[in-house]
Amino acid sequence: MKVLGIETSADDTGVALIESEGSFGADFRFSVLANEINSQQHSGYGGIFPNHAKNEHKKHLPLLLEKVLAKNSEIPDAIAVTVGPGIEPCLWTGITFAQELSKKWNVPVVAANHMEGHILMSMVQENGFALFEFPVLALLISGGHTELILMKNFGQYEYLGRTRDDAVGEAFDKVARMLDLGYPGGPAISQLAAQARTNNIQCPIQLPRPMLHEDNFDFSFSGLKTAVLRFVDNRTLSEPEKMALAREFEDAAAEVLTAKTLRAIEHSGANTVAVGGGVSANRHIRAQLGEALTAVGCKLLIPAPQFATDNALMIALPGYFHAQKEEFTNADALVAQGTLRLDKSL
Ligand code: KG4
Ligand code: ZN
Repeated sequence: MKVLGIETSADDTGVALIESEGSFGADFRFSVLANEINSQQHSGYGGIFPNHAKNEHKKHLPLLLEKVLAKNSEIPDAIAVTVGPGIEPCLWTGITFAQELSKKWNVPVVAANHMEGHILMSMVQENGFALFEFPVLALLISGGHTELILMKNFGQYEYLGRTRDDAVGEAFDKVARMLDLGYPGGPAISQLAAQARTNNIQCPIQLPRPMLHEDNFDFSFSGLKTAVLRFVDNRTLSEPEKMALAREFEDAAAEVLTAKTLRAIEHSGANTVAVGGGVSANRHIRAQLGEALTAVGCKLLIPAPQFATDNALMIALPGYFHAQKEEFTNADALVAQGTLRLDKSL
């Protein structure tokens, strides 16, 4: 079965085509026929500017589809499109595009959940596909989400915890803004932090580790961000100061993410942790999680960094599994759902 995936939930436009067979288990096989992406520039805004993002999606969707069709011009068997969560005007651009294609090609549509896509991307490894052994604990860390979710089976999700304020990616982006590093901030902070570690530059202050010892699976990142703001205090920091602060911030974020994940493993009895979302591209967080999970004998599934951030392959994948179960949605009834959850059916 060939499935076309369409992603427009935030600032990346993606169109991908996969060919798959088998069910959500050992007989599953897939190949990527095309995976096209356009990442937008929002650095002048310090965050995603919805109107600009929407216009860019509209402009790039047909261009990306052309590139996909140049690689494989056969009409797919199904179209999967992100309906949420995300920025609604952006989601609508993908939905409208999918509706038009569905009519033109007479092909059914799957409404895809962006976060399910991030979870499933952790199965895509350099050397093949890693199977999930349920229950799987999913740690979702992106620009809009920080969540610990127990996945009991494909399609069965239970929220264990989430951030009470900012998402971890949002905190990376806000701290980057305070240090004049542009948007998105994650990669820039990570680079500075790595330089601080290489050159053994220590931070003069210790940032808080919010909710680290609280007996729950929730997170809070706004206090961490405020502590950075107080330290910066409208000054222009020197390069070594920026490096030191980036390192301390990254240490604090990695420590709470790791500690809460360990707590959730203990609570749930999961043997596998699947990490997804843009922040999972972070090398320090990957290393810290890897070390901690090895120590407790738990398997870590995490996408290759280039697949951690938004793309359309991550939408084609759940699209295929839902299409296989004939879980289609009437194209005319598709609606953008900005705050879509994983424990509600589409
Ligand atoms: O999943 P994603 O591409 O889009 C959302 O669904 O939000 O995640 C984007 C977020 C941004 O906040 C960005 O700063 C963060 O992922 N990010 C990183 C890194 N690469 C991207 N954060 C920390 N370290 C990175 N290397
Ligand atoms: Zn995402």
